[in-house]
Amino acid sequence: MRYYQNFLLITAVSVFLTVASACSNGQCRLLDECSSDGDCESGLYCFSCSQGFSGSRCVRSTITDQFKLLNNSLPFNKYAYITTHNAYAIDGYPLHTPVPRVTFTNQEDMITSQLNNGARGLMLDTYDFDGDVWMCHSFGGQCHDFTAFGPAIDYLKEIEAFLSANTEEIITLILEDYVGPSGLTKVFNDSGLMKYWFPVSNMPKNGEDWPLVSDMVTNNQRLLVFTSIQSKEASEGIAYQWNYMVENQYGDGGMQPGSCPNRKESSAMDDKSKSLVLVNYFNSMSSKSASCKDNSGDLINMLHTCYGAAGNRWANFIAVDYYKRSEGGGSFQAVDFLNGKLLCGCDDVHTCVPGSTSGACTPP
Ligand SMILES: *[C@@H]1O[C@H](CO)[C@@H](O)[C@H](O)[C@H]1NC(C)=O
Ligand SMILES: *[C@@H]1O[C@H](CO)[C@@H](O)[C@H](O)[C@H]1NC(C)=O
Repeated sequence: MRYYQNFLLITAVSVFLTVASACSNGQCRLLDECSSDGDCESGLYCFSCSQGFSGSRCVRSTITDQFKLLNNSLPFNKYAYITTHNAYAIDGYPLHTPVPRVTFTNQEDMITSQLNNGARGLMLDTYDFDGDVWMCHSFGGQCHDFTAFGPAIDYLKEIEAFLSANTEEIITLILEDYVGPSGLTKVFNDSGLMKYWFPVSNMPKNGEDWPLVSDMVTNNQRLLVFTSIQSKEASEGIAYQWNYMVENQYGDGGMQPGSCPNRKESSAMDDKSKSLVLVNYFNSMSSKSASCKDNSGDLINMLHTCYGAAGNRWANFIAVDYYKRSEGGGSFQAVDFLNGKLLCGCDDVHTCVPGSTSGACTPP
């Protein structure tokens, strides 16, 4: 009897689900309606972006690995990478100080999850705080109990674990650095990351190509670290970012359609003595509700604008807030677009024809 009742209940529930949505159980495709992540195909999750579409729909949650789809035999600067802005400023990050955190966030998942989903650049703000190096937002130029996220070592250990488990992947750390002498050297050493360190002496100084990704992998030099403190390049062997990279203005000033000015620390966008190009695209005040639209068509438009501003160079890094929020493809699609342009001149890396030299693109 009980068995029969359960059977009726299950039948009723499944009829209801079938009527409620056309797909479920991992069958829903991009932009299909969904009610939970489990409804969506792998690589997608169930999300609602009221600025972009009605209801909840499956949108992308992971990158396409361009090295696996094509190959890793080109120089590092011939590929594009998703970069999480303020990667450490995570919703619900465990509290490490005695007072509640009163500050904004820029991401929603832990570093390990960001990396697993395909982030390969992480922007991090490092401070001397509480006798150690911490990840923190500043308030009045200083880290405080109420703006601190956590000790840097915890974040760096997540990165170490990822590099150790994913032996063909490369991670770039871009530090807004407020740490005194030798603080970073100590914490990088303590985290076990020094064995992956890419030496400054191998970085191109005059706009030449970077080493091949395949060589970086073979040599296990898979961690690039850039600091904002010039003197650390000589004193600690940490690359000074502005010797190697140009960046557009961050925040609202970088979101004006049709304009891609450099931020003041960077040389001009079209300075080709720096081989790497980074495009920032996020609001001055981080905004969850705006980010799904920002990370979609608006971002791709800005990539075109910055291509022109950078002397006809496609970006290598795009830095965004809430990188998984989108109207469908978001920052993942933007990086597929860039890799398509960089690797084969097509609008999507999926349409590159492996080995083709004719610039042919297969229809998506
Ligand atoms: C680096 O870390 C190792 C342990 O992993 C430690 O023995 C050594 O003293 C550290 N060196 C520096 C300069 O901090
Ligand atoms: C790797 O992929 C690029 C882009 O499609 C192509 O130009 C290059 O010839 C490929 N190299 C090898 C060794 O397959």
